[in-house]
Amino acid sequence: MRLRQRPGLTTRLRGLTGPALILCLAMAAPARAAGLDLHWLWDDRCAECHGHSSEFARRLTWRSGELVLAHPIGDPLHFLRHHYPPADEVEPLYRMLQAQAATPPRFQVECGGCHDNAASLVRNAIRFRDGAPVMADSGRSVSDALAMHRGLTEEQRQFFGPLLTRVAREVHRP
Ligand code: HEC
Ligand code: HEC
Repeated sequence: MRLRQRPGLTTRLRGLTGPALILCLAMAAPARAAGLDLHWLWDDRCAECHGHSSEFARRLTWRSGELVLAHPIGDPLHFLRHHYPPADEVEPLYRMLQAQAATPPRFQVECGGCHDNAASLVRNAIRFRDGAPVMADSGRSVSDALAMHRGLTEEQRQFFGPLLTRVAREVHRP
């Protein structure tokens, strides 16, 4: 289990000293500030014990939108800080689980026959341009792309537009 999303950075830095190293770190900084792909992180760090993230999230006990822990420690963020997530990603992962618990499993049922899961769909299909999600290939908005998608109803477009946008923000951390 390793935290490195793009292999090779540490390897490439090894052996660099002085100005070259500083330049390299300066160039790497913006990428790190953007945050990890939370769905990748889950699959890398949590899935082996907890399975699929949204199925796990829906099985937990929630009260007024907050997780009620089985563990006696009480506060979920406090629990997670002493559990497996990297410190910087505790809150983002908790927000992801919150959102997943509040979302019915419609992607799997209505889209899963043709698409693996929402995270892998948006990882390739969606990019952020000036903070707004657009389709990577055509530059269309997500709602325009869904409007052109064969076989989807208006109600499905209304539901899945915001869902894909939320998942895209979890994957491509702005
Ligand atoms: C090696 C196995 C393992 C890994 C890896 C793991 N967990 Fe856990 N997790 C557990 C166990 C066991 C519990 C139950 C702990 C307890 O209640 O004492 C738990 C409990 C939890 C709970 C609370 C569940 C509840 O019902 O109260 C959350 C939330 C959670 N884990 C999130 C994560 C996240 C996020 C990650 C990845 C960053 C992760 N876990 C990685 C084993 C693991
Ligand atoms: C019957 C199969 C099928 C079902 C069901 C299906 N899709 Fe698709 N979807 C496709 C195919 C095939 C493509 C690729 C089409 C293309 O790129 O022209 C696609 C592409 C997409 C794209 C990318 C569009 C782009 O412009 O890149 C999105 C987003 C999408 N689907 C969302 C959904 C959602 C949300 C659902 C469920 C409500 C869904 N799809 C259900 C077959 C399906």
